Amino acid sequence: MSRHFLDLADAGGDAIAAMLNDAIDRKEARANWPKGKADADAPLAGRTLAMIFEKNSTRTRVSFDMAMRQLGGTTIVMDAGSMQLGRGETVADTARVLSRFVDAIMIRTDDHAKLIEMAEHATVPVINGLTDHSHPCQIMADMLTVIERHKALPGTRWAWLGDGNNVLHSIIEAGSLMGFDVRVGCPAGYEPSMEVLEAALKRGTTVPILRDPVAAVKDADVVVTDTWISMGQEHAEEKLAAMTPYQVNAALMAHAKPDAVFLHCLPAHRGEEATDDVLDGPRSAIWDEAENRLHAQKSVLLWCFGMIG
Ligand code: CP
Ligand code: NVA
Repeated sequence: MSRHFLDLADAGGDAIAAMLNDAIDRKEARANWPKGKADADAPLAGRTLAMIFEKNSTRTRVSFDMAMRQLGGTTIVMDAGSMQLGRGETVADTARVLSRFVDAIMIRTDDHAKLIEMAEHATVPVINGLTDHSHPCQIMADMLTVIERHKALPGTRWAWLGDGNNVLHSIIEAGSLMGFDVRVGCPAGYEPSMEVLEAALKRGTTVPILRDPVAAVKDADVVVTDTWISMGQEHAEEKLAAMTPYQVNAALMAHAKPDAVFLHCLPAHRGEEATDDVLDGPRSAIWDEAENRLHAQKSVLLWCFGMIG
């Protein structure tokens, strides 16, 4: 059985903690090295990761590519539109074929069911590079960034502002696995999915959904937001208007703890979900967060290959 990283719960809290520790150690061990130089142990030498993109990407694409290089392996990057997948070959058949060529598959797709289908038919590990439902690799990097800012995860208070989307789903899952609190400030009609809230509840975690953005942010250790319009969604003026009170600006950040960390998975829509003074301000960790995609995903890859946890 291959180890798939489809959502954070696939790994569980202990493995996530082990991955985060490994990421911290590997990052420290190669500080100031040329970015393309392999880690001293090159643990994935001889392994190849295939990456399939059905949606645009900058960070996921480059961070996985560099992650494999630093681990001593190689990658094949494919846009779905130029594959037979893009003209009707099934996900299942694509999974079967790629499994004969490569050692692991990462896919960014719209429908989460396609990711599941890929994992069911692949005989190598499959990694979720974002679906409409979740973005677990992003939240591995977010947790790493928070730990680096000297905040141990258990007991920290995370405030999410804006759309109840894929990134929030993975934050809620992470909170319930790693013991941090998540409060959501969002307008009616844009809540996270009930399925995600119920799964967190089964693990003993309640996630308050608040209409008041100030109440959501109050005394938060971490303030996080994301685009109001995700990839594949229509640009709707009505939605933008509903989101406006949830913009993360200096006035809202004033209600978080003085040492609160601001996160955004990027790309940002400056002046919409967050203002420039917050994105570029002293409490923003967004560039470390982006870099940490690389370090966190190296550990995800090693976990998939059974080398961690
Ligand atoms: N945060 C993130 O996943 O970025 P990309 O869409 O650029 O990969
Ligand atoms: N919620 C965003 C995340 C982008 C990295 C989207 O799905 O477009």
